[in-house]
Amino acid sequence: MCGIVGAVAQREVSAILLEGLHRLEYRGYDSAGMAVISESGANDCRKRVGKVAELQRALESQPLPGHTGVAHTRWATHGEPSERNAHPHLSGKLSLVHNGIIENHETLRKKLTALGYQFVSATDTETIVHLIHHHYKQQRNLLGAVKLAVQELEGAYGMAVIHADEPDKLVCAREGSPLVIGVGIGENFIASDQLALRQVTDRFVYLEEGDIAEICTGHYRIWDINDVPTQREIQRIDTVAESADKGSYRHYMLKEIYEQPHVVKRTLSGRLSGGKILAEIMGSKANDIFKSVSSVQIVACGTSYHAGMVAKYWIEGIAGVPCRVEVASEFRYRKFKVQDNTLFVTISQSGETADTLAALRLAKTLGYSASLAVCNVAQSSLVRESDLYLMTEAGPEIGVASTKAFTTQLVALLLLTVALGRYHDLDEQQEANIVQGLHGLPELMHETLALDPAIKLMSEAFADKHHALFLGRGAQWPVAMEGALKLKEISYIHAESYPAGELKHGPLALVDSNMPVVAIAPNDELLEKLKSNLQEVQARGGQLFVFCDKSAGFSAAPGLDLIALPHVSDIIAPILYTLPLQLLSYHVAILKGTDVDQPRNLAKSVTVE
Ligand code: AGP
Repeated sequence: MCGIVGAVAQREVSAILLEGLHRLEYRGYDSAGMAVISESGANDCRKRVGKVAELQRALESQPLPGHTGVAHTRWATHGEPSERNAHPHLSGKLSLVHNGIIENHETLRKKLTALGYQFVSATDTETIVHLIHHHYKQQRNLLGAVKLAVQELEGAYGMAVIHADEPDKLVCAREGSPLVIGVGIGENFIASDQLALRQVTDRFVYLEEGDIAEICTGHYRIWDINDVPTQREIQRIDTVAESADKGSYRHYMLKEIYEQPHVVKRTLSGRLSGGKILAEIMGSKANDIFKSVSSVQIVACGTSYHAGMVAKYWIEGIAGVPCRVEVASEFRYRKFKVQDNTLFVTISQSGETADTLAALRLAKTLGYSASLAVCNVAQSSLVRESDLYLMTEAGPEIGVASTKAFTTQLVALLLLTVALGRYHDLDEQQEANIVQGLHGLPELMHETLALDPAIKLMSEAFADKHHALFLGRGAQWPVAMEGALKLKEISYIHAESYPAGELKHGPLALVDSNMPVVAIAPNDELLEKLKSNLQEVQARGGQLFVFCDKSAGFSAAPGLDLIALPHVSDIIAPILYTLPLQLLSYHVAILKGTDVDQPRNLAKSVTVE
């Protein structure tokens, strides 16, 4: 999704801005641009369609010298990816970059056109820069013009704007789209994600909804939603602990798959004590809230939704608490009854996903007893706006395809299940067994990752296929959903997942020798039923690829390819069986030559509806 970087310094800023854009590339985009105020007071701009490297080449032949600038990666919403639609957008001496969507852009466009403004792009963003220009004519002051303009905007924005007549200043505003100030010494920065500014500072100030800030070299000032001058806490982020490098790995995705034993350990660290889970890790009010919870509503998107689906099996099956799960974009627009004492749980890697955030805000008006966020970004809107939160400790996830975020979400959701279960169906012995299983998980993950060469070999059977089916039963069904999503998003092979028992109710008609069927077969109480379902596939000449427990009694045969995983308890199994499916998708994508870390059309953080 779109990315913003801005800088006001006493040195050249274009290299800083460019590095920031490179660091935001993982979010997904289709064009990039930069504007810098030159020594002569001109507002110079370069834009290119495609990768940041294209913009870099343009800057090499036509540099942008200057000390104040803004830059942007655009993910097209209004208007095709093109130079005229790329940001920054200009109006007179103003240059502006924007994330989000302005919902009343058509009304504003008519008004501004009537005032004599000529639009060169098809974007909603261009209305903002002309609107600020219009107010600047009366105000003769950038900050004042922005303050007036935002009052006319409906929708979501994180924006940054500069004016060539005020060369040592940048003004930014946030409503529905994140912005952070990077605090330097004699220089200050802004970005939509602190990751973009790691090379210049480790001190950050997170803007809140409705905030407007003026950024200069020696100081910055913030006004809140009511236009009251305000202070926001400076947070120091440890850059070493959160390395965002690829290291020796070919792709971020592979690095992140291999990091899983480590980040699972980190997600458990300090949260288990003497065979017990410490519920206080979710906040001091957690136990009081959990005591009275009689049902759970989970809301999330994509991979995070799949984590919620696994959690439903745990929360109902282990804790004995009724649980519903829904994708956020459906939950937002549906009428339903809220039961008393329902805990509202959101799951999100980024904590900025527009639909999930909107669902949380809606839930707060609907009478849920409390909200809890399972999230990977401590400073995110989702965490800040929830009553309780449980952080996943996955570290920055750069690959668009979520891997370590998913498995750490599952670990966190199992901790939540136990914390809730204590007040319902879970006894001490069961809790101790789960804790023991979690302690052993990182080692089992290492053993499973060691199967990589065999999985790579298996992937060859998929590279020339157009479709694939993923089957699982019980809590392995959402794992199959996640496996299918991984294959779709990075290899562009159409993949569907089914609970294996549903096969004969329709999808069996698709099965022939060109349809690889992946099955997840831990040695659990549904194993024999799953085996019957797989025989239905074999009888139709389907090609089976089974990830099974080594004691599950399968033997390889023509049409049946096997990979045996170490034995794991039924409860932990969904976490472990996710790993081979991630590796399978990765190797298929490599064979197909796709852009693994930045698959086409996708964005890492979906901050628009
Ligand atoms: C999965 O690989 C995707 N990156 C996507 O489905 C993602 O999980 C979804 O957009 C939700 O993102 P979030 O966890 O940041 O809310």
